Amino acid sequence: MPAFTASAPGKIILFGEHAVVYGHPAIAVPVMQVKARASVTPNLSGTPGRVRVQAPDIGLDSDLEDLPADNPLAAVIRALLAELRISRPPALTLRITSTIPMAAGMGSGAAVSVTAIRALAAFLGRPLPDERVASLAYLGEKLYHGTPSGIDNTVITYSKPVYYLRGEPIRTMHVRTPFTIAIGDTGVACSTAVTVGVVRRAREANPADYEKLFTAVGEITKAARSAIESGQPGSLGPLMDQNQALLQEMGVSSMKLDRLVMAAREAGAQGAKLSGGGRGGNMIALVTPETAPQVKRALEEAGAAGVILTEVRDLPEERSFLHDKDMR
Ligand code: PMV
Repeated sequence: MPAFTASAPGKIILFGEHAVVYGHPAIAVPVMQVKARASVTPNLSGTPGRVRVQAPDIGLDSDLEDLPADNPLAAVIRALLAELRISRPPALTLRITSTIPMAAGMGSGAAVSVTAIRALAAFLGRPLPDERVASLAYLGEKLYHGTPSGIDNTVITYSKPVYYLRGEPIRTMHVRTPFTIAIGDTGVACSTAVTVGVVRRAREANPADYEKLFTAVGEITKAARSAIESGQPGSLGPLMDQNQALLQEMGVSSMKLDRLVMAAREAGAQGAKLSGGGRGGNMIALVTPETAPQVKRALEEAGAAGVILTEVRDLPEERSFLHDKDMR
């Protein structure tokens, strides 16, 4: 049985984080500069049913049966095998590596799940449609952060810009005029479960105010969708600034995020905001080819742990199930 590999990109939310958990729209795009990769190789002399799981980046090297039920990767693999009705797969090693920063709002957990599902399903001769891949990866998301909206597993599975509404069929977006964003990493890890909890409690204490904030974010997201689909990316800048002000009101920004957002704006970005759960993780800024280098430099000088420049555009489907022969 040959070896199979799959890869999945990172992602970044452009608009609508937090409000999306409460049924408002959000926009997320894949980030192709970072990737998770999975390879599945047969252990020809291994005992059938033995699945070895290796993720050297996080020091994981264990048999599937020894991983606890709440380990997201193990849960996703078990759910996949159950869905395929395979109780005893051939002995195999699943190895995962990733360049996606963890706990930084770039979808590293979802990308790991998506690649693992795709590589395993292909190895087992049972590739799954995207819809099934996304919903299996969602099980992992629930273990990573409690009540996920489902945006990460969706954008990463489809590898395309998406306009996401919880519980509704996936809507990919047409990017009429490509644009560039700078992604600045605070270097501060903050789990999404924490910030989603912060917002949940604040909303429980103050439902009317929070519903107003979420609705306002939803309106910004709708306007951003029109700007992207009608080829007016320049108007995304002010929308980012407005969204950031609402995220600050929700209490999920931080001094470091605010500092990076200000630095980007002062260096010529057309707009900037935090992205993802907040309190740490990443921020984004809208740049042009002219302003990109100076915004990148300003973010680094303001203390960003890393800056990625990424172009948002319609992407050709980029996913790979490669026979080992093809990889040499
Ligand atoms: O980008 P992340 O993985 O930090 O996700 C955060 C997005 C939230 O809207 C805050 C939560 C969610 O599940 O959508």
